[in-house]
Amino acid sequence: MGFVPHRTCLICVVPARRPHRVQPQCGGRPAPGARGVSLFLFLFARGVSLSLVPRAAPDLAADREALLAFRDAVGPHLPWDASAASPCGWLGVLCDRTGARVVQLRLPGANLAGAVPLGTLGNLTALWTLSLRANALSGGIPADIGACAELRYLYLHGNRLEGEIPEGFFGLRLLQRLDLSDNLISGGVSPEFNKLRRLAALYLQNNRLNGTLPADLDLPNLRVLNLSNNGLSAII
Ligand SMILES: *[C@@H]1O[C@H](CO)[C@@H](O)[C@H](O)[C@H]1NC(C)=O
Ligand SMILES: *[C@@H]1O[C@H](CO)[C@@H](O)[C@H](O)[C@H]1NC(C)=O
Ligand SMILES: *[C@@H]1O[C@H](CO)[C@@H](O)[C@H](O)[C@H]1NC(C)=O
Repeated sequence: MGFVPHRTCLICVVPARRPHRVQPQCGGRPAPGARGVSLFLFLFARGVSLSLVPRAAPDLAADREALLAFRDAVGPHLPWDASAASPCGWLGVLCDRTGARVVQLRLPGANLAGAVPLGTLGNLTALWTLSLRANALSGGIPADIGACAELRYLYLHGNRLEGEIPEGFFGLRLLQRLDLSDNLISGGVSPEFNKLRRLAALYLQNNRLNGTLPADLDLPNLRVLNLSNNGLSAII
């Protein structure tokens, strides 16, 4: 790299001695590259301090907390042993082979009711399969569902979900099967669906979708599409 470190600034960004008066010490015009050096040191210093603080990286403990919060909100009757350190043996919960993360949550027809809060399902970021069909979930599809970027199979049909499909939803680029049928979902069929390139089956029937179907809907792997019984027009 071609920059010459600016000595005075190198000293003044070390926050040890005079954390509140770093700027004046630099004095005069910063040499070319000084800003880069300061930024580098700033990031370095932050890196050091962050490593001393416990991190909230997604892990099994975080998945467990998310599941318990989900249960509190929509299924307090679920027979999950909250004293267990690992959620991997809980009804409907499956972990990966190493037991590092929760990869499946399947609770069809489990009498779940109410709205799914943010920071519950959306925190289960290693999920491949989520099946909550045939329950009484209401409110919107949680807006943070897009954080579950590993999802392949998403079954939310047969609930009372309402409102529009949230924007973040279209971050679920690996989705292969999506069933949102038999809900109260409204709004249009967004051209954003084109981002779900791997989608092979899309079930949206029996909702309150309206508007015009995007003319350029292009899903190369789609084999099943059901849009019946909505308020959609211009289906050719
Ligand atoms: C979900 O993740 C967020 C961000 O890391 C965190 O603040 C929140 O507490 C988590 N929710 C639960 C129920 O653990
Ligand atoms: C779709 O329905 C909503 C009400 O749910 C309405 O406000 C909107 O105008 C409708 N859009 C179209 C294109 O019909
Ligand atoms: C699409 O959904 C409608 C309404 O539920 C149903 O009657 C129809 O059989 C479905 N079609 C296919 C191809 O699955």
